[in-house]
Amino acid sequence: MKYEIAYLPGDGVGLEVLPQARKVLNRVAQIQGFDLKWRDFPFGANYYFAKGEVLPPGALDDLGAADILLLGAVGDPKVPPGPLEQELLLVLRFHFDQYLNLRPVQNYPNVPLPRPLAAQEKLDLVVVRENTEDFYMGLGGSFDSKTTSQKLAAKRKLYDFTAEITGSFSPTTAGAFSLGLLTEPGIRRVAKKAFELARTRGESQVQVATKANALPQFYGFWDQIVKSEATAYPDLKVVFLNVDNLCYQLPRDPSPFGVILCPNLFGDIVSDLAAALAGGLGLAASGNIGDGLSMFEPVHGSAPDIAGTGKANPLAAILSGAMALDRLGQTVGGQLVKDAVRSYLAKGHSLPIELGGQALTETVGDLVVAELKSA
Ligand code: NAD
Ligand code: IPM
Ligand code: MN
Repeated sequence: MKYEIAYLPGDGVGLEVLPQARKVLNRVAQIQGFDLKWRDFPFGANYYFAKGEVLPPGALDDLGAADILLLGAVGDPKVPPGPLEQELLLVLRFHFDQYLNLRPVQNYPNVPLPRPLAAQEKLDLVVVRENTEDFYMGLGGSFDSKTTSQKLAAKRKLYDFTAEITGSFSPTTAGAFSLGLLTEPGIRRVAKKAFELARTRGESQVQVATKANALPQFYGFWDQIVKSEATAYPDLKVVFLNVDNLCYQLPRDPSPFGVILCPNLFGDIVSDLAAALAGGLGLAASGNIGDGLSMFEPVHGSAPDIAGTGKANPLAAILSGAMALDRLGQTVGGQLVKDAVRSYLAKGHSLPIELGGQALTETVGDLVVAELKSA
């Protein structure tokens, strides 16, 4: 078997951690006897400065020709927040309709846990994040005394959306707005995936975290569709809770949580919280999954505060690589990578700096490679 991997390290620590994933995957390919053809994409802040555009014409088609996309991180302090995140990262998620964002977190040996509770309950959960809608639509703008009407448009695989918003403040004031969208098919398809995942994992319940109390027209709609989809899964108890309560319950006792289904924005926030509970963002992998090109990337960003120091933990990138192998059908290879990460951590020495050790990014990659066994 031969697979083409689109390789997009991006910015900051993305450029440091993703080569470690590449190194590990190349070794697994050797062990398992499949071929990986890497195709490098230079997009990110440097490309943007050099070319004056985030993505050149045709880039999405080029990326789409690959079997899988591996991404490091995007975002740079020299670029104001927005263009790289919206026009690169989010464009990829939307263009390829990667509606399912899986963000698993679990305990690993020898990882110091910053938990508020002394009892170290087992942490093993997946945040299932809707990945194309909610307040991530990119539908927004601002009002001033001159602007009263604006046209809004968004394109998704499921639909084209257009709206015209007219409004004014009295007294006149500057103001901004953002339009979130949730649609029945958009909610249904991700809820279905969450329930199926819960069955595969042998869960008895699924937690659904929204904020239907404060935004009933919006998240109440989400909850109602999820409830209706849940009728096809009578074996699962579906627990609806407000996301603020979830952020309270999860650190106190993560043991009841297995699959947490969230709309886009809350899923983003909850996955960072869960990563902290598991010991660090440098361990948190993710997959942006759709029917076309799927994209795997660490949950973390470009970490400008540590970029260039060699302190970045590459395990999230490496574990994202394992998820990519699973998606390609190379599940034995995926398991080898996960096992190698676990046995490296189990040794308890030369840990990543993030986890209290001294090993630099590249060393961690080498140590994981050294743990790779044949199946
Ligand atoms: P961040 O995830 O980059 O960093 C948050 C904190 O976690 C920082 O203290 C950082 O040092 C630490 N951290 C992150 N990854 C680490 C690793 N591998 N090893 C050790 N420590 C790690 O979040 P931020 O600071 O809010 O964002 C920085 C930039 O990244 C922004 O431009 C943001 O928009 C972007 N971002 C991109 C993605 C993505 O590409 N998927 C995700 C999040 C943020
Ligand atoms: C993530 C990031 C992105 C998100 C940002 C960079 C747009 O935080 O992948 O978790 O909010 O989805
Ligand atoms: Mn995030």
